Amino acid sequence: MRNKIVAGNWKMNLSFNEAQELVDELLDRLEEQEDLKCEVILCPPFPYLELLTDFEFDVQLYNVGAQNCAAYEKGAYTGEVSPSMLKSLDVDYCIVGHSERRKYFNETDAMLAEKVNRLVENEMSPIFCVGELLEERESNRHLEVVRQQVEQGLFHLNAEAFGKVLIAYEPVWAIGTGKTATPDQAQEMHAFIRDLVRKKYGDKVADKIRILYGGSCNAGNATAVFSQPDVDGGLIGGASLKAEDFVSICIQASQL
Ligand code: PGA
Repeated sequence: MRNKIVAGNWKMNLSFNEAQELVDELLDRLEEQEDLKCEVILCPPFPYLELLTDFEFDVQLYNVGAQNCAAYEKGAYTGEVSPSMLKSLDVDYCIVGHSERRKYFNETDAMLAEKVNRLVENEMSPIFCVGELLEERESNRHLEVVRQQVEQGLFHLNAEAFGKVLIAYEPVWAIGTGKTATPDQAQEMHAFIRDLVRKKYGDKVADKIRILYGGSCNAGNATAVFSQPDVDGGLIGGASLKAEDFVSICIQASQL
């Protein structure tokens, strides 16, 4: 039995004050949920990470993730943020290979594999994003595209290191467009990814890995997508900026 995970990707949004207000409201709403069974991960922009990690909780209400990291350990890389810096702030997760980074920042599979390496060396969990473009789905190449992304970004890891990884399937045509994959489309891809993992690492690892869905996931469609057997939760963009919507998604995940 895999616990669901709901991760919020704030992307490049919010001023510091707005971020503070969002955290306060999230905390109020999450605290009201006595028995939330899903794991919550919040991924703010770098300057706001400490705002989220600087809390002492009686019960851990959420974990914190970054949205990106350097492929290097340290040194003369102006403007970059290393996994060890993130780790020193108690950040345990990091999104890697989001389609926006692949597209606007030309991140290649080889670079992403290096980022994954630096993260697992620092005992952090990559949230590794994969997903096809609309034209790739329309030409029925979606499974092949995602297979390559998974293999090239992750399959160099040994089983122990791979055990730290989360995968997020985010069809590019569904991100920020209001067009979600149908529950069947999500299930098909998630089962396909789990099967790739099974062939490479065996049953135990495949049954354990969490595969999240992302792409216009919101309070109105979360239950339908998350109730698919191979969907272990979601990576939420737009809807993670509204505390009420995000917590509603967490509650839905927790009830499945
Ligand atoms: P969206 O973004 O929920 O706004 O579509 C998801 C993501 O890019 O992680």
